[in-house]
Amino acid sequence: MKNLGMKNSPILVIGKNGKTGSRVNQRLQALGYATRAVSRSTTPSFDWEDPATWASAIKGTRSAYVTYQPDLAVANAEAAIKAFVRVARENGLEHIVLLSGRGEEGAQRAEKILQASGISWNIVRCSWFCQNLSESFMLEGILAGELVLPAADTVEPFVDADDIAEVVVAALTELGHRNRLYELTGPRALTFAQCINEISDALGRPVKFTPVPIDDYINVIREQGVPEDVQWLLRELFTVVFDGRNSQVMPGVEEALGRPPTDFKTYVQKTMDSGVWNTVVQKQSA
Ligand SMILES: NC(=O)c1ccc[n+]([C@@H]2O[C@H](COP(=O)([O-])OP(=O)(O)OC[C@H]3O[C@@H](n4cnc5c(N)ncnc54)[C@H](OP(=O)(O)O)[C@@H]3O)[C@@H](O)[C@H]2O)c1
Repeated sequence: MKNLGMKNSPILVIGKNGKTGSRVNQRLQALGYATRAVSRSTTPSFDWEDPATWASAIKGTRSAYVTYQPDLAVANAEAAIKAFVRVARENGLEHIVLLSGRGEEGAQRAEKILQASGISWNIVRCSWFCQNLSESFMLEGILAGELVLPAADTVEPFVDADDIAEVVVAALTELGHRNRLYELTGPRALTFAQCINEISDALGRPVKFTPVPIDDYINVIREQGVPEDVQWLLRELFTVVFDGRNSQVMPGVEEALGRPPTDFKTYVQKTMDSGVWNTVVQKQSA
């Protein structure tokens, strides 16, 4: 596909240290694109909770990868995306690639706002990331040998964040993707129990999956001091988004990149190679 060749003005990446933002930023830089990767901890900073930070992060950029925090499912997201798109237009942003989630009403409302904005758009509507098991709250359970979650038999076609990043970079840098929505999943739908079995087999040590009722799970995380909005979000994710509506495998990776999505087995192998599930290394660096 023809390259856009606009290497002068930096590409804005919102979510510098995030699971996909970090990968998008690295790939763009490796291809020779200038980037401006931002989050609350960068200079300039970008905070979804503080609209005063948005314009200075956007100024001078022409295209952006946008990851919203904490999740497009939360009540504030619609107003925030509406306001962000207005600030983006006022500050000359011409193309936005938005990270979205499957089966979330709030996410679909945000997608529509972008699609109607007059700015060129792409939407990468993603299933659960494989990397939730290695770069997020589920890592702790795997290291401890037991992952406890309020999810029983639902299957989910977990997608590899490396695939998401490759699609995002293609959308940002190659002609021919404009104004397309890619629904990205992995090639196999798995239960959490199956994921954990595959990880356990590969690690050669027991890791068990324990499903619990959602109310029990929320009670435990409340006692651990997890904030109320995060409790709400986890309840929403495990009861609504994870009710089976998103079980279908979708062809977005193949459509965007002309190759099949990465299998969960490959994700497990490269994560093993990274050492992140190695309990000895984790203890030494703690
Ligand atoms: N994880 C999934 O399975 C999944 C699936 C589909 C869609 N999504 C979508 O992906 C997005 C990212 O979710 P994620 O959990 O995977 O997070 P993530 O991309 O790993 O991002 C975490 C980063 O966000 C930054 N951040 C936190 N609050 C912020 C704020 N108020 N303003 C700006 N930056 C902030 C933090 O950096 P600083 O501390 O430096 O600010 C943190 O390093 C969400 O919109 C979610 O809906 C996720």
